[in-house]
Amino acid sequence: MYDHLTLVSGRAHVRLAREISEYLGVPLANVELADFPDGETSVRLNHNVRGRDVFLIQPTGPPVNQNLMELLILIDTCKRASAERITTVIPYFGYARQDRKDAGRVPITSKLVANLLTEAGTDRVLTMDLHAAQIQGFFDLPVDHLYGAPILDEYFRSLALPLEDVVVVSPDEGSIKRAMQHVERLGAHLAIVDKRRDSATVTRQANLIGAPLEGRTAIVFDDLISTGGSIVGAVETCRRFGARDIYVGATHGVFCGPAIPRLAGADIREVVVTNSLPMEQAQGLPRLRTVSIAPMLGEAIRRIHRNESVSVLFD
Ligand code: R5P
Repeated sequence: MYDHLTLVSGRAHVRLAREISEYLGVPLANVELADFPDGETSVRLNHNVRGRDVFLIQPTGPPVNQNLMELLILIDTCKRASAERITTVIPYFGYARQDRKDAGRVPITSKLVANLLTEAGTDRVLTMDLHAAQIQGFFDLPVDHLYGAPILDEYFRSLALPLEDVVVVSPDEGSIKRAMQHVERLGAHLAIVDKRRDSATVTRQANLIGAPLEGRTAIVFDDLISTGGSIVGAVETCRRFGARDIYVGATHGVFCGPAIPRLAGADIREVVVTNSLPMEQAQGLPRLRTVSIAPMLGEAIRRIHRNESVSVLFD
């Protein structure tokens, strides 16, 4: 069934790649990845990919530049080895947050990364929860964009919380659409935090709009947790507005800078993230729960390989 399918993993998240490989029953191709003494990346593919349908798995989380460069080199390797088609599987797409010129003399890095991936030779991209869905348009090739929300909601449903007393909280206005989808799927209420960003690591949360939180359970959903400022600020706002229990859900646990101590010190019942990124640095975080996206990515790969629709995975 998978005659021409080849799975290749970079070094960014081998555990996820192995889970995908198990789901599909397709072994990972043998690839030697190392660093030259000067820091350049060395790649050697010990697997014939001529005429094959290759899926390269590599999230571009921290160390972002290294993981991105390694991915570009892997694409180049497969292209030059005559792969028939290369699909780049990027469970977490780094550099996505700089997606517009909102000040003078700043770059649009998500467009730059799209250009780099295209120029390196990818034929298609499979990714998950881009910071802004419009980033798909930065590519002039097919992009399959999956969502972690159904997997997170499935976990929250398994907790059997009294949904009439659950309020989904959007940590800023940019996440309202995503929050509304959680509201619909969970059958909960909606509230929105009024967030202002002072710098890359400092945010201010002034107010909360929407359903009352007094005595209720709040679930704050975001696409990603980076330094934890946005989420912890939202959690503190929920507490100020009287929430009884507070949960956090996010697709991408980037967890950099002060994120771990910030989250550990916050009044959170559970932090639930997917395994789009490896989370060794978060092992010390109490009440961290990880849900796996491997079956969803594996199924998407299976469907792309067989030219079947992937939209069934959006529900
Ligand atoms: C903002 O628009 C994003 O959705 C996240 O809320 C934000 O990027 C998370 O960053 P941090 O954890 O550093 O506040």
